[in-house]
Amino acid sequence: MENVRDIVREAGAEIGECVDEHALDAVRVKYLGRKGRLTLVMRGIGKLPPEERPEMGKAAGAAKAAMTRALEGRLAALKAKAAGKHKGVDVTLPGRRYEVGRRHPLTVVTEEIVEIFAGMGFAVAEGPEVELEYYNFDALNTPADHPARDEQDTFYVSEGVLLRTQTSPVQVRTMERTSPPVRVISPGRCYRNDTPDATHFPVFHQIEGLYVDRDVSFADLKGVLSCFARQMFGSGMRVRFRPDFFPFTEPSAEYAFSCVACGGTGCRVCKNTGWLEIAGSGMVDPEVFRHVGYDSEEFSGYAFGMGVERIAMLKYGINDIRLFYENDLRFIRQF
Ligand code: DAH
Repeated sequence: MENVRDIVREAGAEIGECVDEHALDAVRVKYLGRKGRLTLVMRGIGKLPPEERPEMGKAAGAAKAAMTRALEGRLAALKAKAAGKHKGVDVTLPGRRYEVGRRHPLTVVTEEIVEIFAGMGFAVAEGPEVELEYYNFDALNTPADHPARDEQDTFYVSEGVLLRTQTSPVQVRTMERTSPPVRVISPGRCYRNDTPDATHFPVFHQIEGLYVDRDVSFADLKGVLSCFARQMFGSGMRVRFRPDFFPFTEPSAEYAFSCVACGGTGCRVCKNTGWLEIAGSGMVDPEVFRHVGYDSEEFSGYAFGMGVERIAMLKYGINDIRLFYENDLRFIRQF
């Protein structure tokens, strides 16, 4: 009987010291497990003289009940304490999802275009978006009274400083700091004071190309743009050149790709012409060479420009340029 009282007292003390469920379980096993101290006592009852058995049985049973209550009480206390620590956190709520970002379709297309030209030996050159009037117009043979200026509604920052209306000024900046041969591609943002509609937006992107060396001809220009068209849109692409005018090229040509939607037979996308106009190109005007100190007797070159939005719209069948700038995730997520 004394042994049982000791067991209960010791177990009580140990239970009180438990700081977690794990320790509590160890105490339970130690006293109530298959070889636990109280279990062994209860098993020994049968060997006692018959007259002692009932009293011992009662004491042991009471001890077991007390110990079980103490274990349960302590467990409840530990749980309550743990819950108090994380007050306000509902652990049954689903976890937070993190959105995975992706590249903007204009970035995707720009990188693709740059990659294609890089494969043909073009390096990337960049220039500022806030540009001097000199680089955007004057050095490109477009002086103040030149009628071509009226076609580009320009945002002026201050006297002689503007937001570039085209990536062509990068041609001049590049030639100013390097001597021929020059073979660069120049992607970048441009600005014009246009009213937004399905095909115009005051901010847009262009990619400029420039190649200057000895004996560069218009045939080289045709070759490089045809090669680009086939890599960008598929092997069936044809390229058409038609006379045009740009102040910084002579001769100048507007170029078009066979319609990506119908392949050239005529459809709604190409307004039944079979052709899609892409942008301008031409042989660098000697007047531009004069501004950068190149000898136009020794060197010749071609230049071309293209609108990134236009290419992206054709590639993905997008019918409104404004979609690129609205940041509607339902649109952006598709690329
Ligand atoms: N910068 C011209 C534009 O925005 C496009 C262009 C035409 C670029 C002819 C060129 C070029 O390099 O040779 O309309």
